Amino acid sequence: MSRFEGIRVLVTGGNSGIGRATAQAFAAEGAAVAVAARDEARSDIVAAEIESAGGRAVAVRCDVTDEASCRSAVDAVVATLGGLDVLFNNAGVIYRERTAPETTPEEWDHTFAVNVRGTFLMSRLVVPVMIEGGGGVIVNNASYFGLVGGKGTAAYSAAKGAVVLLTKAMALDHARDGIRVNCVCPGSVDTPMLRGEMEEMGGADAVRHRFEDKHPVGRIATPEEVAAAVLYLASAEAAFVTGVALPIDGGLTAQ
Ligand SMILES: NC(=O)c1ccc[n+]([C@@H]2O[C@H](COP(=O)([O-])OP(=O)(O)OC[C@H]3O[C@@H](n4cnc5c(N)ncnc54)[C@H](OP(=O)(O)O)[C@@H]3O)[C@@H](O)[C@H]2O)c1
Repeated sequence: MSRFEGIRVLVTGGNSGIGRATAQAFAAEGAAVAVAARDEARSDIVAAEIESAGGRAVAVRCDVTDEASCRSAVDAVVATLGGLDVLFNNAGVIYRERTAPETTPEEWDHTFAVNVRGTFLMSRLVVPVMIEGGGGVIVNNASYFGLVGGKGTAAYSAAKGAVVLLTKAMALDHARDGIRVNCVCPGSVDTPMLRGEMEEMGGADAVRHRFEDKHPVGRIATPEEVAAAVLYLASAEAAFVTGVALPIDGGLTAQ
């Protein structure tokens, strides 16, 4: 029996990077997966990849900053899959190389809208569904920047710090509802987001070593390594784990 047979999972930002790898990993272990993001064409491709590998997946359009969009996505997923057991709040954005004075109010608001408001909106809609279903698991994607500050990431560090404490507060509120709430705090992960940051900073060839060198293990993570931690937190093996911010960072925050 696969670890997630019969389990229904919704992954925001499921059409790229860590979200895509996590959707694929859940499906490979038997879950039915909803891939949610704004770009439906890319979500359709990920859902088709999962289906052609023998898994079950649906794509749903969702802008996590917009309450009505979140509501219609959650309603559609619950109607299609018959309920929801796991929510991975993974959608995120970063404006890098910006101190607070260099961050525009619009960039600040957008950073908080996707990373924090999106996590809040999706969670507040999904909790009642999980309670009705007898429980569930929420995993949030924070960052090591939510545990320690980072230069040039004022808005992003503030937002990811908020995600870490939203995780802990919700874990306390819903412990007796049978809902566990945890977050992962990845170091640098090889995804389109990180590659975009490298381009802005002078190109991957010039700056990749800077990302690798800051991790004690001497490299950056693969999206699959973060996915493995998300699956652990969502699994029955983690039944006594809630309110945790788990670094997946090659030792970065151990320093
Ligand atoms: N890569 C890293 O080094 C790293 C490290 C630590 C933490 N993280 C976190 O990991 C998460 C995933 O990042 P990634 O590196 O995999 O980035 P990515 O490849 O750029 O993926 C980001 C995802 O978020 C979705 N998204 C953006 N805005 C959205 C919105 N308003 N509504 C719904 N979905 C939205 C995007 O899809 P659409 O554009 O189609 O909506 C995309 O699927 C983020 O929360 C990020 O902060 C990443």
